[in-house]
Amino acid sequence: PEISAYRSHLLQWYDQNKRELPWRTVAMTEPDVNIRTYAVWVSEIMLQQTQVATVIDYYNKWMQERWPTVEQLAAATLEEVNQMWAGLGYYSRGRRLHEGAKKVVSDLNGQMPRCTEGLLKLLPGVGRYTAGAIGSIALGQVTGAVDGNVIRVLCRVRAIGADSTGPAVTEALWKIANTIVDTERPGDFNQAMMELGARVCTPKSPLCSQCPIQTHCHAFRKVSIKQEQDSKRL
Ligand code: ADE
Repeated sequence: PEISAYRSHLLQWYDQNKRELPWRTVAMTEPDVNIRTYAVWVSEIMLQQTQVATVIDYYNKWMQERWPTVEQLAAATLEEVNQMWAGLGYYSRGRRLHEGAKKVVSDLNGQMPRCTEGLLKLLPGVGRYTAGAIGSIALGQVTGAVDGNVIRVLCRVRAIGADSTGPAVTEALWKIANTIVDTERPGDFNQAMMELGARVCTPKSPLCSQCPIQTHCHAFRKVSIKQEQDSKRL
């Protein structure tokens, strides 16, 4: 019951506050699963180490003018990909996208993997987070996606004070993420978690008064109790 309230509060907030980003539109409207998966893959690789605001123009140019399909990317040269990548930084990401596209065309008959496991196993540069993000957003797979923002949100919601970078905590956070992800709208749920971390549950001075899951947050509860006690002591 708590989980279902958490999900609906978060998704309701997301529906009212989400940014209209081009890869989100594609994920919701593109009927061809292969193009949808390719598009979200491109967006997630670009977003790995580059800000959303910078990625938008590169993504649009890539998908609309240069390589709208995985076959077209596979037919490009690495030089062309590098040229296009200029300004995004960390060129190995572009190189791995290109390698992955060639692999999809040569080994998989041009068909992108259809599940999170396949994405993780078959695409170079796609780790656990990115596979979960593409799988949930493009394929509707019910898998969590734990990136830096989501680590912070989950540690606060569950009041995990330990070092959040250790393997035990990481494993615990993945378990939580896979348990709480909404089964009907996994992609929206994961993007809502990211969006909450980027815009409300920020590293410094989080905007708890605007938070849709405030009532579910153990860190908020602790701080509130502390403030209450402090005020009584005055
Ligand atoms: N960062 C990584 N993936 C993202 C997404 N799908 N939307 C917004 N920010 C992101």
